[in-house]
Amino acid sequence: MKSLRVDLSERSYDILIERDLISRIGEFVTSKGGKAFVITDSNVAQPYLGKAVKSLEEGGLTVKSVTLPAGEKTKSFSTLPMLYSFALEFGLTRSDVVVTLGGGVIGDLGGFMAATYMRGVNFVQIPTSLLAQVDSSVGGKVGVDLPEGKNLVGAFHQPACVLIDPDTLSTLPAHFLADGMGEVIKYGCIKDEKLFKLLEEIGGDTARLFGHIDDIIYTCVDIKRRVVERDEKESGERKLLNFGHTYGHALEKINNFEMSHGAAVAVGMEYITRISESRGQTRPGCAERIAEVCREYGLNERPSEDIDGIVAAVKNDKKSGRGGLDVVLLKDIGSAYTFRTTADYFRS
Ligand SMILES: NC(=O)c1ccc[n+]([C@@H]2O[C@H](COP(=O)([O-])OP(=O)(O)OC[C@H]3O[C@@H](n4cnc5c(N)ncnc54)[C@H](O)[C@@H]3O)[C@@H](O)[C@H]2O)c1
Ligand SMILES: [Zn+2]
Repeated sequence: MKSLRVDLSERSYDILIERDLISRIGEFVTSKGGKAFVITDSNVAQPYLGKAVKSLEEGGLTVKSVTLPAGEKTKSFSTLPMLYSFALEFGLTRSDVVVTLGGGVIGDLGGFMAATYMRGVNFVQIPTSLLAQVDSSVGGKVGVDLPEGKNLVGAFHQPACVLIDPDTLSTLPAHFLADGMGEVIKYGCIKDEKLFKLLEEIGGDTARLFGHIDDIIYTCVDIKRRVVERDEKESGERKLLNFGHTYGHALEKINNFEMSHGAAVAVGMEYITRISESRGQTRPGCAERIAEVCREYGLNERPSEDIDGIVAAVKNDKKSGRGGLDVVLLKDIGSAYTFRTTADYFRS
């Protein structure tokens, strides 16, 4: 078993990575009150909920599970009252535990429910999508969407532990695997040239990728862990994780969120790197390598890129503060820095 510890003083927690870990979660999920409230979605329940519940029960816990419709619409503020009601009906107390079994939608929603129910209960993340395993389950950001926009209500609530079973990726549709690869490529770009070169070498071959997936997940989680430890609440270094995301988010927005997040980030990483190369801020050749790797992993959607719309969307983003905009640039593959500019940088 591979394990990592996120060191955040009293909020520290372990991340365990092992194949078929779902069948053993009962060994790692603890609840003083003896109850576990499991939240999952309709695609994940069929292959994994039975195993998860069985293991928790074998661990001596009383379990109640709720299966929500799959998809981003479920990560809505309006889903919360129902979750609170189910938990109350079950008699869940502050000594018990919430378990989120699913992708980023379930992790963010269930994590926010756990952060707010009775002023906060412990929660354990069991991420089942690649994006959730390498990104959203680690770092403690939880939240829900409002009709006005995504992630507008949220909190920082660190999990009690994160249990990653890479075997779950065998049932993840290719489209969502590609989405997660967008983040994996991002980690290589900002922090780890070796990872990036491995991805180049694998060349997008899924069987070969799966042969390396445990190590790849470990490497990505380790990068996120280090960044989160140094900057828990996103004021400094954590911004590097936004590489490709400012432009990517704007692109998603102007395309009404009809394109995948990974594809949007792929375009964002390549686009900003082309600009920074042309301005002498990045070693020449990086943008082409990024474009090639993204293509190989199925991130080749080219949506409408109306630059006026994109710049307007960047200006509206909650992250673009008054003092200007921090964009993340690469010095070279594996090394990133922030650069203070304005949204008009994207026109250059
Ligand atoms: N908290 C954070 O730091 C953070 C970071 C990045 C993204 N996010 C959030 O994460 C969400 C996106 O995450 P996501 O891409 O995992 O979305 P998701 O949870 O919707 O999962 C994607 C799809 O894959 C299905 N699925 C998940 N695991 C599966 C499996 N093992 N087998 C079969 N199907 C499976 C889901 O049912 C869904 O249809 C967004 O809401 C985003 O805002 C949060
Ligand atoms: Zn992302």
